[in-house]
Amino acid sequence: MTVHNRSCRRFVVGLAVAALFLSGAITRAEDGYRLWLRYDSLPKEMIDAYRTRVTSVVISGNSATLNAVRSELVDGCSGLLGSSIQTAATLDRNGAVVVGTPASSPLIAGLHWDRQLADLGPEGFRIVSLELNHHSAIVVTSIGEIGSLYGTFYLLRLIQTLQPISHLDVSEKPHLQLRILDHWDNLDGSVERGYAGKSLWDWKTLPERVDRRLTDYARANASVGINGSLLNNVNANSQSLSAEYLIKTAAIADTFRPYGIHVYLSARFSAPIDLGGLKTADPLDPEVATWWKKKADEIYHLIPDFGGFVVKANSEGQPGPRTYNRSHVDGANMLAAALAPHKGVVIWRAFIYDAKPDYDRAAAAYDNLQPFDGEFAANVLLQVKNGPIDFQPREPFHPLFGAMPKTQLMPEFQITQEYLGFSNHLVFLAQMWREVFDSDTYDRGVGSTVSKVVDGSLYAHRLTGIAGVANTGSDRNWTGHHFAQANWYAFGRLAWNPDLASRRIAEEWINMTFTHNAKAVTVIARIMLESHEAIVDYMTPLGLHHLMWGGHHYGPAPWWDTEPRPDWNPVYYHRADELGLGFDRTATGSNAVSRYHVEVRDRFANLDTCPEKYLLWFHHVPWDYRMHSGRTMWDELALHYQRGVDWVRGARKDWDGLAGVIDNQRYNEVAQKLAIQERDAIWWRDAVLLYFQTFAKRPLPAGVAPPQKTLAEYKAKSLAW
Ligand code: GCU
Repeated sequence: MTVHNRSCRRFVVGLAVAALFLSGAITRAEDGYRLWLRYDSLPKEMIDAYRTRVTSVVISGNSATLNAVRSELVDGCSGLLGSSIQTAATLDRNGAVVVGTPASSPLIAGLHWDRQLADLGPEGFRIVSLELNHHSAIVVTSIGEIGSLYGTFYLLRLIQTLQPISHLDVSEKPHLQLRILDHWDNLDGSVERGYAGKSLWDWKTLPERVDRRLTDYARANASVGINGSLLNNVNANSQSLSAEYLIKTAAIADTFRPYGIHVYLSARFSAPIDLGGLKTADPLDPEVATWWKKKADEIYHLIPDFGGFVVKANSEGQPGPRTYNRSHVDGANMLAAALAPHKGVVIWRAFIYDAKPDYDRAAAAYDNLQPFDGEFAANVLLQVKNGPIDFQPREPFHPLFGAMPKTQLMPEFQITQEYLGFSNHLVFLAQMWREVFDSDTYDRGVGSTVSKVVDGSLYAHRLTGIAGVANTGSDRNWTGHHFAQANWYAFGRLAWNPDLASRRIAEEWINMTFTHNAKAVTVIARIMLESHEAIVDYMTPLGLHHLMWGGHHYGPAPWWDTEPRPDWNPVYYHRADELGLGFDRTATGSNAVSRYHVEVRDRFANLDTCPEKYLLWFHHVPWDYRMHSGRTMWDELALHYQRGVDWVRGARKDWDGLAGVIDNQRYNEVAQKLAIQERDAIWWRDAVLLYFQTFAKRPLPAGVAPPQKTLAEYKAKSLAW
């Protein structure tokens, strides 16, 4: 061997080792990027059961969506089953997965399922295990290609979560039509209330360069049935509607289209002035209406499946129709007329509260909008936050649900944790959203739940929807905290079916994202399912709300009273004094409780029947008031805070016990976040109790640890985030 040859060989061997090392590193690097679509090989003892059922993939047709289906299925099954699953042109063996629509697949057309599929609609699907041309097969089909894609993800989820697939007969369709992630992203790449890095949209390099990551974002959304994405902040910049930015938006829409995701934009109400040079944005001015019509035409020319506009009007400084003495209906319907010819919708936000002396913000949206029930155009939805204030750790349901039977209401949840510890705290929000969905509005008698208002069944509404303020960003793991991915996942699952149980969602997600180890799944599910109550305990128990530090909203500052508006200050909400604590929203106070249906109103307004979790939301309660437990309100309050801290300590121990079961990187990262959560829970307990103690003038009850710092120290600086 010549020297040259030897060194050449050494070089090749070196390369091979490096490649091996790299590929090992790539498969081992569990940085959370793959979300719940990990497709790693199933436990060995499980694989055989699936291998005989899934041997090939038969998909005819080459549309962008069918190509996406094909690659998802081939990658997914090959990974999960640990062997290469190939596409086949025909059904020539057992175990084919046949996917498509009756139009794309002659095999599926031959089944003559058109009527059933028509009932399920273009996003619904059937998955059936059957004999086809003398071979066992699984058929995944829909009248729409997007339905076939959703069915594909459903089948993959069954395999990922180790469900049997030998006798499948599934029919599914979404309960809500518009299932939208709202991104509060600014054009400079920052994200309002975002805790996971920068915006996913790189406006500077669009439309020429579209980040590959956008396809993975679209896949993740499609896997849970999310079909809309609002790209820009509701505190909108008119530039988003400029010709320059619409071309960029069109490039994003093109990337999302194969995955069934429609793009929406926040429309700044003053855009006709800002962009069009008009003197006014008065919705009743014909020139203004014409400007919006032309803008809509321009948008649909570029993006034929554009979803529509989301509008924050006359709220927190945003312009709107009230600026011109017109009503919210005037504003919404004018925009709706511009979008109607293109089948677009207007999503009008109900987050409206104006500064009137002595008013209660909890009644403001109701008072501004309820009188207009029945006046909004057919393509308008009113987007109502889950509770009447602002995404607090716990709120009673918003009184507009069940109060506007002739208006299409869609709920707005906040997936990003503005008031819930940012991306530092582990909290599974499905529990909180379930509480809202299950609340009974009583509008059509017992059982008139928010979920029935929202899914259109209570009032027979045609158009339904839901929005979640996204928690995604440029962080490698998308959401900052590995467990915050579960909230993105849960939002999608609940948007598809608001009646799903939180436990089921949690267990699916854990199996797909972390582990199949049954013991570990039980432990993690318990942590997740208990986490919401725990965060309420250490932040805002018994109906307290908005005790957060001004501006950024991280950490406690119940003493805060310097914001320009009273209703941005914690002192406005807790009303602590020598007598007691809480906001009297009954007839002796603001009477905001009267906005609820009589059955709900009476239950909340009566101290004896008001659920204790909402006690201080509706009542100003004496410090010595006897709680159901027999303890005084002060003692009970203090014990809630302690319980929250204890829970975090317990969760840390439980997580420590999972060492070796969860991959190192994610195990360590979660452990570090839990340490922060414990630090913060203690801070919350101490700061809030020390402050309220200045009014209560009572000692901490037995079982509550003495504070670690003085009140002055807690007041002096905000909790670091
Ligand atoms: C909250 C949040 C704001 C946001 C607003 C909204 O108040 O703090 O950042 O703009 O909600 O929903 O419009």
